[in-house]
Amino acid sequence: MIRLSPVLDGLGTYPFVKLEAARARLRSQGVELIDFGMGEPREETPAFIREALAAAIQPLAPYPSAVGLPELRAAIAGWAQRRFGTSLDPDTQIVPTLGSKEAVFGLAHVFGGDQVVIPQPAYPVYDRGARFAGKEVVELPLREADGWLPDLGAVDWSRVAILWLNYPNNPTGATAPLDFYVEAAALARKHGFVLASDEAYSELYFGDRAPESALQLTDLRHVAVFNTLSKRSSMPGYRSGFVAGDPEIVAALKKYRPNVGVAPPDVLQHAAIAAWNEEAHVTEVRTRYQAKRDLLLPALEALGLRSAGGDASFFLWMEGSDELAARWLERGVIVAPGSFFGPAGEGYLRLALVPPLDAIERAVELMRAP
Ligand SMILES: Cc1ncc(COP(=O)(O)O)c(C=O)c1O
Repeated sequence: MIRLSPVLDGLGTYPFVKLEAARARLRSQGVELIDFGMGEPREETPAFIREALAAAIQPLAPYPSAVGLPELRAAIAGWAQRRFGTSLDPDTQIVPTLGSKEAVFGLAHVFGGDQVVIPQPAYPVYDRGARFAGKEVVELPLREADGWLPDLGAVDWSRVAILWLNYPNNPTGATAPLDFYVEAAALARKHGFVLASDEAYSELYFGDRAPESALQLTDLRHVAVFNTLSKRSSMPGYRSGFVAGDPEIVAALKKYRPNVGVAPPDVLQHAAIAAWNEEAHVTEVRTRYQAKRDLLLPALEALGLRSAGGDASFFLWMEGSDELAARWLERGVIVAPGSFFGPAGEGYLRLALVPPLDAIERAVELMRAP
C-alpha cells in the first residue's frame, strides 16, 4: 500500500463525483441526460477570442513569466476601471492566475494564521485549500433569513489568516452590498487577516443593477479580489483569471507563484486580453442566461418550488428535497442537492442554467410528469 497524504485520505469524495455512477448507469440505459448539476458554462467562446488565441501562436514558446504579460495586467486594470471605477496599478495590484480555482486553493499556503473562515454552504475549494495547507477551517453559516450574508460579529478573529467571501454567491445566487465589504475589510485590517473575495460570477446578473465588488472599496489594504473569464466570457477551458487588490497581497502571491508554476500560456493571455477589452459579448451571454432563467424559474415555481436565492450568478437556488432530486435523476434531469455544498444547503436544490434552451424545455416536461 502506498500511503496517502492524511489530508487527501481524510477527504470525502468530491460531491459531484457521486453523480458519476448514476450518470453512467442512465446513459447505458439510453436515457437522455439534461444536466443542471455542474456549474460548467457550455456557451461557445466568442469567435474573436478564439481568433486572438490563434493569432498569438509563435514559433518560439518560452516559459510564461509568473507575473503575466504587462498587456494583460493593463487590460484587467482597464476593465476594473470601466466596471467598478477602480484605479489599479497593473504592476503592483494585479496578478494573472491559471483560472481562479488554483489561486483559490493555493491562497492558504501564502498567509500566516491558523484558521481559514469560510461560508457554509460554499464552493468546496476554500475548504480543501485550507486543509491541504494545514489550517483549521471555521465555518460561517449563511442563512436565507439574512440574505445569505454571514454574521461577521460571530467570529473570534484573533487566529484567522483568511476570510473567504463569494458574491454573487455559489450556490445561492445572492449578492452582497458594498457596506458589507466595508465591514469585512475593516475587520481584516483590524485583526490582520486577508479578506479574499471570490467574484467569479460578478458579470452574471439579472436584476437592474450590476453586483458590487470589493474592488470598489476606497481602502484596498488587506483585500484580494479573485475573478475569472470562465463564466463572464464562456472560457472555462482557457484557465484565465486574476487576483487584484492590496499591493502587499499581490507581492506575496508573486513571490509564491514561481514555486508552484507560471502564468497561463502566453497565447491564452492574448485571448484573455481580447476578452477583458470587450463587453458586448458579456451583455449577449447575460441575455442568453436570462432567457433560460425566464423559462426555468416560473416552471419550477408552477411545480410548487420556492426560489430561495438571489438574482445573480447562473444558479437557481430552490427549496427542494434530496428525494425530489433523486426522482428527477431517474428521468435524466440532473440537479445538485444543496447538501453537496455542506449541511447548511440541506433542503435546497441548485440548478445551473447551463443546458441549451431546447433541453431546458424538455427538462421542464420531464419534471412536470407525475
Ligand atoms: C465560486 C467559484 N469560484 C471559483 C470558481 C473557479 O472558476 P475557474 O477556476 O474556472 O476560474 C468556480 C467554478 O465553478 C466557482 O463556482
